[in-house]
Amino acid sequence: MRRKMVAGNWKMNMTPSQAVKLAGDLMPLVDNEDVDVVFCVPAIDIVPVVNVVKGSNILIGAEDMYYEEKGAYTGEVSPEMLVDAGVKYVIIGHSERREYFKEDDTIINKKIHKALQYNIVPIVCCGESLEQRETGVTLDFIKKQISGAFKHISPEQAIKCVIAYEPIWAIGTGRVATSEQAQEVCKAIRDNIRNIYGPVVAEQIRILYGGSVNAANAAEIFAQDDIDGGLVGGASLKLEFAKIVNYDRM
Ligand code: 13P
Repeated sequence: MRRKMVAGNWKMNMTPSQAVKLAGDLMPLVDNEDVDVVFCVPAIDIVPVVNVVKGSNILIGAEDMYYEEKGAYTGEVSPEMLVDAGVKYVIIGHSERREYFKEDDTIINKKIHKALQYNIVPIVCCGESLEQRETGVTLDFIKKQISGAFKHISPEQAIKCVIAYEPIWAIGTGRVATSEQAQEVCKAIRDNIRNIYGPVVAEQIRILYGGSVNAANAAEIFAQDDIDGGLVGGASLKLEFAKIVNYDRM
């Protein structure tokens, strides 16, 4: 039985003082023993937010990291820095990083290798554009993204990863995928993982849905067979996030 997971992706929001306030406000509200709760926060917010949530079950994630260990890479954040700060998860290959920062499957694959080397769980993002959906190439495209991301990742490593399916047309648009659409792609991802790694990895790896998840639609989406929770953007910046974490108590 896979444990559910609800991760917030704060994106480029929340100054350190705002982050401390939000984390402190959410902390008493997001206690669901059946759900792993993760706040993925901007790099500058990691240290203060780790301090706020100390002693709770909330785990902290980064929104990105670099694949080199250290050195002359101005502006980048290394895996060792994240580990030392208390980070357990890292979002890798979000569509915004692919689009605005030109991250490709090769870069994403290097980041996944490096995160795993440091025992940080990568939340590996994939998802099609509206044009790809409308031209019927979604499943082929996602398969290509998954095989690119997992290149030379062993089964023992893959089983530790989390995959997030985030259709680009549903991110920040209020246009959520139907639960059938989300399930169809998450099942295809699991089938793909089964083909690469076999049944044990396929049954255990967690696959999240992301894209306009909110308190009203979370329960239906998370009830799908191959969906193990959500990666939440906009609604993770509000107290509404607690209702998503407690989707099974509403
Ligand atoms: P929204 O929930 O704002 O659509 O964002 C989804 C997302 O990109 C999470 O990574």
